[in-house]
Amino acid sequence: MTTTKLKIGALELGQGLILAPMAGITDLSFRRIAKSFGVDLVVSEMVSSEGLVRNRASTKMLLQSNAEERPLAIQLFGSDPRVVAEAARIVEDEGADIIDLNMGCPVPKVVRQGAGAALLQHVATVASLVDSVRQAVSIPVTVKTRSGWSKSTINVLEVARVVEDAGADAITIHPRTARQGFSGSADWPLIAKVKQAVSISVIGNGDVTRPEDVGKMRKLTQCDGVMIGRGAMGNPWIFRQARQLAKGQPLSSPTLQERLDVVRRHLALYEESLHGRQSLSGVRSRLMWYSKRLRGSARLRASLSNCHHLEDMIKLCEEFFESLEKESSTCEER
Ligand SMILES: Cc1cc2nc3c(=O)[nH]c(=O)nc-3n(C[C@H](O)[C@H](O)[C@H](O)COP(=O)(O)O)c2cc1C
Repeated sequence: MTTTKLKIGALELGQGLILAPMAGITDLSFRRIAKSFGVDLVVSEMVSSEGLVRNRASTKMLLQSNAEERPLAIQLFGSDPRVVAEAARIVEDEGADIIDLNMGCPVPKVVRQGAGAALLQHVATVASLVDSVRQAVSIPVTVKTRSGWSKSTINVLEVARVVEDAGADAITIHPRTARQGFSGSADWPLIAKVKQAVSISVIGNGDVTRPEDVGKMRKLTQCDGVMIGRGAMGNPWIFRQARQLAKGQPLSSPTLQERLDVVRRHLALYEESLHGRQSLSGVRSRLMWYSKRLRGSARLRASLSNCHHLEDMIKLCEEFFESLEKESSTCEER
């Protein structure tokens, strides 16, 4: 049984299970679902500092929150320390519990602005960004980053020390380079090296896809917290199961009925967060996540792709789960 506790500034975050920031995915609806399965901290999608400071409505939408999901970290991206500090003040005023600074996004649109992973090539800017934000707000400040820009310029140890010296409370490492994107595998031993190099909390991230991986990453790296991204998409149960394993309890897999209930709840929360305006592509992708690992899901995905009415999509999904339920009960009878 593990007794690990994560502390970020004055915040006590239990076992340190964290839902990763994922643009287009970790919106309010998904964060609430993850919370209901025992995650200790949720992180927003990345938010443009420039957009916030310019008061852009589409950017401000991303700050939507709900008491149920707290504590909440809002992740900012940007490269100008004054702009990011101003955005951090706005985020603090909106009630966030943590400001997370994105220093790992490899997407060209972000990198072109000198933000995200581009910062790994400008360590002096990393320092002034953290320093400006630290001085602008009183809530904890964290940084999420990668190994380095490319294989030949891996500098996360230097970045971690700079981030700590500039006043950050924690650092999250996704140990792949920006150039790697999602290829290859996450270099967990590098997380262990960062843990040895700094005294702020270190959060490990990358390729935690099964509940067992949480304990494995902790053991290998001694990290203070574990952040899960893709492994939680359509699979929020991973947080409950990781807790069960940590307590030495047997794993409980979701029943088909529970899956369907969560799908329905997720869609209702999604619609609520859009204030009744439905995005068909948003609903379609969410339905697809939940069926991903199940038998016959390719067929469901093909049907959903050709479906253009919300009610029909939900019906297809219900029929899919009902057919699986029937199959499993017939198997049991046999
Ligand atoms: C669709 C998608 C969107 C992402 N968006 C963000 C983001 O907004 N900010 C960020 O720091 N990382 C983002 N990431 C990276 C994840 O937070 C995480 O570092 C990465 O997926 C590795 O963790 P995993 O193996 O648990 O998925 C994104 C990843 C995915 C798959």
